[in-house]
Amino acid sequence: MIELNTATKRYGTLAAVDNVSFHVQAGEYFALLGPNGAGKTTIVKMLLDFTRPTSGSLSVNGFPSTNLASRIAVGYLAENYHIPPYLSGWQYLQRCAELLDISQADARDQCRHIVEQIGMQGRENTKVSTYSKGMIQRFGIGAVLIGNPQLLILDEPTSGLDPIGIREIRQLLESLKDQGMTIFLNSHLLSEVEKICDNAAIINRGKLLVKDTISSLVKNGDTLEDVFVRFIKG
Ligand SMILES: Nc1ncnc2c1ncn2[C@@H]1O[C@H](COP(=O)(O)OP(=O)(O)OP(=O)(O)O)[C@@H](O)[C@H]1O
Ligand SMILES: [Mg+2]
Repeated sequence: MIELNTATKRYGTLAAVDNVSFHVQAGEYFALLGPNGAGKTTIVKMLLDFTRPTSGSLSVNGFPSTNLASRIAVGYLAENYHIPPYLSGWQYLQRCAELLDISQADARDQCRHIVEQIGMQGRENTKVSTYSKGMIQRFGIGAVLIGNPQLLILDEPTSGLDPIGIREIRQLLESLKDQGMTIFLNSHLLSEVEKICDNAAIINRGKLLVKDTISSLVKNGDTLEDVFVRFIKG
């Protein structure tokens, strides 16, 4: 479903992503791990064609990432995104549905279902300016579910959430797995990744250090954090 083929992105002399190749299969929950500045968001930006590789190629849904067709049925949650504070959560979801050209009746049904999925029934009609960070994050994830995507690309979906919010997002992502969703996740929350993902890759300074199943990475009783620190500190 996702493939990177010797993908490289240079900014001047800096190789933000350096000759990275790996693939993610349909139905997989995949985590891209790495310290700050490792190149995770740059990979996401190349997958979505916000920026183009200096060399190498990427594909999504069997199409080159430069082809619009690769982004049909993909939901994307940006790192540090914002929701206009003057809208209600419900209005925000409706506007997102409008952008996808979904009919009004269908949008209403989908948004109603999504409000339930994100556990925000009863709160959807108050303004975003009154929401906690966790509530905003939930509506952010809700918005990417509009249009029934098959692939979610989530850049730090639990950033800034308290332990209860983190757990709720985990439960939401777990419930989507039963529906056959594929997830590509950037995260620093290694204990969460360990709980919900099948596979992970660790990158540092743009280079791929390892890609494996979580169960192989944490064999011998190590936590994913132990494995991460070992790879990063060499
Ligand atoms: N537009 C840009 N121009 C110049 N350098 C950039 C640009 N975007 C990213 N970089 C650099 O590329 C490197 C990788 O950045 P990236 O945002 O991909 O890291 P990240 O792994 O997502 O980090 P974080 O965990 O902090 O989100 C960093 O050194 C960053 O400064
Ligand atoms: Mg990032």
